[in-house]
Amino acid sequence: MKSYKIALIKGDGIGPEIIDEATKVLDAVASACELHFEYEELLMGGIAYDITGNPLPQETITKSLTSDAVLFGAIGGQKWDTLDRELRPESGLLRFRKELGVYANLRPAVVYEELINASSLKPEIIKGVDIMVVRELIGGIYFGEPKGRTKDKGWNTMVYTREEIVRIAHQAFRIAQTRDKRVVSIDKANVLDVSQLWRDVVTEISEQYPDVELTHMYVDNAAMQLVLNPKQFDVMLTGNIFGDILSDEASMLCGSIGLLPSASVGEKIGVYEPIHGSAPDIAGQGIANPIATISSASMMLRYALGEKEAANKIDNAIKRALKEGYRTQDLAQFDAKEVCSTSEMGSIIANYTTK
Ligand code: IPM
Ligand code: MG
Repeated sequence: MKSYKIALIKGDGIGPEIIDEATKVLDAVASACELHFEYEELLMGGIAYDITGNPLPQETITKSLTSDAVLFGAIGGQKWDTLDRELRPESGLLRFRKELGVYANLRPAVVYEELINASSLKPEIIKGVDIMVVRELIGGIYFGEPKGRTKDKGWNTMVYTREEIVRIAHQAFRIAQTRDKRVVSIDKANVLDVSQLWRDVVTEISEQYPDVELTHMYVDNAAMQLVLNPKQFDVMLTGNIFGDILSDEASMLCGSIGLLPSASVGEKIGVYEPIHGSAPDIAGQGIANPIATISSASMMLRYALGEKEAANKIDNAIKRALKEGYRTQDLAQFDAKEVCSTSEMGSIIANYTTK
């Protein structure tokens, strides 16, 4: 029996509820596939600040780095919004990504056939959408210096080095090779020098991937094209902030942000997390959609642990639950046969992984 050490970071808001459903499903699939998961809970975010005075305790970094993979819920909430910036939950998350070196954030936006009516766009526009946003995660304006704030002025700097662009470009091209072999690189090269460097370096790297078609698109146009004709995209390669924005937009093609998983990977370890936030307004009510997190657990099995069969079982179980009309509150008005709670949805999916 294969055993894996999983670092669990539940975080704030709905984080604990959705992670509990993901481990429920992981344990079910473990028994079906003769695997064993050993979990270690680590602190990050507002809860870490409340307990230790630090949104990212050193122990969380050290223990994450010695695990096989990290499964992460969500962090943040109004309660901590007035703290000094470096004490805020979000700063903990950014430092965490940096310390773990997870420079590539993979955010698939795939439309579930069963939820074709849940999108705000017309079914014929979104049917068959299958996009992978490859977002650079530990550079760009999120981390650039100088940055600062006085009473009447605030500033941040968007910086990319050749090396940072090279490694994320390789990721995007390699992923495209396993898909439809098309990369659209997103930038604002008509205005920003940092984007012109991005465009030049991506073009250079593309020469090593003659089987992949590369095109470039300005970020404002990309935002428009995503709702006009999303099927034109296969892999979207973006810097940090453009990917943050466009991946939220892409998620809405799929009906609910509560459905979409993500993987953040680098040389050392992978972090698997839903793309939605901590949703403090619905925390503790048992109405959050656990599918994004369960689906992140499936990505973890597939990419970090190489457990394809187990990952397929989870993906199929999710599809089956949706097909049979089980819906959490966020999707209640779309062909629901039965509206279920967070934990009921987890149990249904867990049950289907074993059948
Ligand atoms: C995300 C989130 C984070 C980000 C926040 C919470 C710091 O929006 O993962 O997309 O901006 O990267
Ligand atoms: Mg975001």
